[in-house]
Amino acid sequence: MEIIRIPRIVQDTCNKHRMKGRSVGFVPTMGALHGGHLSLIKRSRMENDITIASIFVNPIQFGPAEDLAKYPRDIEDDVRKLREHDIDMLFLPDDGLMYPKGFETRVEAGHLAKKLCGRFRPGHFNGVATVVAKLFNITSPTRAYFGQKDFQQALIIKRMARDLNFNIETVVCPIIREHDGLAMSSRNRYLDEEQRTAASKIFRGLNAASAAIHSGGSVSEIRSLMVKMLSSEPLITQIDYASIYDPETLDEVTEIKDELLLAVAARLGETRLIDNMLVNVS
Ligand code: PAF
Repeated sequence: MEIIRIPRIVQDTCNKHRMKGRSVGFVPTMGALHGGHLSLIKRSRMENDITIASIFVNPIQFGPAEDLAKYPRDIEDDVRKLREHDIDMLFLPDDGLMYPKGFETRVEAGHLAKKLCGRFRPGHFNGVATVVAKLFNITSPTRAYFGQKDFQQALIIKRMARDLNFNIETVVCPIIREHDGLAMSSRNRYLDEEQRTAASKIFRGLNAASAAIHSGGSVSEIRSLMVKMLSSEPLITQIDYASIYDPETLDEVTEIKDELLLAVAARLGETRLIDNMLVNVS
């Protein structure tokens, strides 16, 4: 596995691969790699000739009061995991290479960025869209891989790729969960032992809501059930949202029909966790 820091060198190498007719799979990450990231890597390796991952903790997607400074960084362990998974290249830029002096152009994500997490993290998805657009231009992949845990992020990136004519297939891969159902996330590292146990309530809430949908519950009954289950856990200190959404528009639904997205963002102390589940009613 080559480790390259300079965008121009990655760009040239990727262009050479594409010119030789090789497909390139790209897995963008912020490091602190876990089973979720590794499932994306495995999928990319299955579907492409070349697999590239990036590790870059993107400062412009963090709000001023968020966890940029303490975001988990473990580059040695990440490199070891990537080598074990036998990828071709790791793009490992630093802030100055991604945002050199004078950088001032950004992508503005549209209305999807204002819903769900966007209400609590203003500007977050513009930061994500901007860095992903840069990463797409640097790696020019055939396919790029994202996890369904960040459902809203994946939807916004798909929309950006369509709107800005990136000729890239965006592949969304299933959520990978711990043994008790907690969705894998780099931020799970922030949880202490008690919070870690309590965090599985989020998945249990989603499961209970899914079962209630299948047994004919109404929108308001299901929403109340989710909120009640989450609120019954004293270590869940805040629920940013817990509801049922249209998976294409991210609007809250008024009727139980077709495909639905159950989505939650909840805080355990300082740690904000998100999770979701798609439910097909038909
Ligand atoms: O999901 C993430 O890890 C990040 O938001 C991404 C897509 C790598 C952009 O910084």
